Amino acid sequence: MADRHVRMAIGLTSGTAALGGLLFGYDTGVVSGALLFLKKEFGGLSSFQQELVTSLLLVGCMVGAFAGGRAADRVGRRPTLAVTALTFVGGVLLAAFAPDFPLLLLARFIIGLAVGTSSMVVPLYIGEMAPARVRGGLVSLNQLAVTVGILAAYLVDYGLSGSGDWRLMFGLAAIPAIVLFIGMLFQNESPHWLISQDRDDEARRALQRLRGPEDDVEAEIEEVRRLGQRKNSYRELLSPKVRPALIIGVALAVFQQITGVNTVIYYAPTLLQGAGLGSSSAILAEVCVGGVNVILTIIAVWLMDRVGRRPLLLIGTSGMLIGLLTVASAFLGGDHLTGARAVIAIIGLMWFQGSFAIGLGPVFWLLIAEIYPLKVRGTAMSVATIANWGADFVVTISFLTLLNAISGVGTFLLFALLTLIALVYFHVKVPETKGQSLQTIESELETAEIT
Ligand code: BGC
Repeated sequence: MADRHVRMAIGLTSGTAALGGLLFGYDTGVVSGALLFLKKEFGGLSSFQQELVTSLLLVGCMVGAFAGGRAADRVGRRPTLAVTALTFVGGVLLAAFAPDFPLLLLARFIIGLAVGTSSMVVPLYIGEMAPARVRGGLVSLNQLAVTVGILAAYLVDYGLSGSGDWRLMFGLAAIPAIVLFIGMLFQNESPHWLISQDRDDEARRALQRLRGPEDDVEAEIEEVRRLGQRKNSYRELLSPKVRPALIIGVALAVFQQITGVNTVIYYAPTLLQGAGLGSSSAILAEVCVGGVNVILTIIAVWLMDRVGRRPLLLIGTSGMLIGLLTVASAFLGGDHLTGARAVIAIIGLMWFQGSFAIGLGPVFWLLIAEIYPLKVRGTAMSVATIANWGADFVVTISFLTLLNAISGVGTFLLFALLTLIALVYFHVKVPETKGQSLQTIESELETAEIT
């Protein structure tokens, strides 16, 4: 009975916070379809203006990840998420009702602030609430929500493509944002953060709701307090004890993006349309890619605490390599894909996306919630998250130019090479964290002092 209450409390908290992930996925995915109609508005948008609408969100994400880390460490995880939800509501409504182009750009930047903050605070918050034995699956719920958000955005784009109502495409995101805000009002603050603020009584009450009879709450408080006695500063991040974990997190962040996932998420219809598919089959192929992304992420959530992070990461990254080589081979006979070569390209893209979903997608966000010491956790996660959005921005802004300059074969072979480097790096450097308490991971990484 008590166990059922614990499961419900944990499920409700993680589910509510994961709405932040849903908004992350929806708001990054929706623009691909919305652009088709937006470009005819406001007297017609140039390609540069279209790129601005897409990428200003990513700039907002970097700023949001920076500010979010500071806020989460200073005022707590819960108020930070509540304010993020309000920022989502404001940004989304401004986008839906924007009377002119500059205000639309401002709206995309504001939405980016919220996406950037929630992308790091949600895994951070769930990671600290969850008991060690189920932490992998629960934190990965956030990634599942991201993929559901992306798929929902594709379906909305598809459903509204008849009317071309881009305002509604943007505006619908206000609903989960309001639910997130109301939901956060009823959640507990992270017990680990409370302990770091010497608020042990509140932490104890929260932990009693979130831990089962087999867990020793007093021992957890004691251990978290012992590890929480350090300074939180950027300087601390470069200390020999934190630096190894910082480098691993940033490397995972950059590899997650430079191996090309968002060229598929943001550009697949453009790519397939340009390669000879009609627009409805291009959108349909995109919906299928979104579906594969969700299904494989569900499997990853299920496997994360069973087989561990490392096997999923290594198998998934190897699969990405195979997918990229397949896409590259489809482009061998020229950039205009027809018949069998179009089918090979679509299969390769889906294989790639599914492999990302089972490994690097969820594992990156999970590991950065696990490998940093409590006292610098928010700040360190924000550094990794800024690196992730920064790398996303660079890839997104340069992808179409790259395609023109070095063709389809060259571009996908480049991604394949970067994936191979990532695979070797992961094999050598990334630790297994399955089933260990955050405190044990912290002690082990400290004593390892790998540089
Ligand atoms: C990445 C996003 C990506 C998404 C795709 C996330 O883990 O950070 O950039 O769009 O996965 O599912």
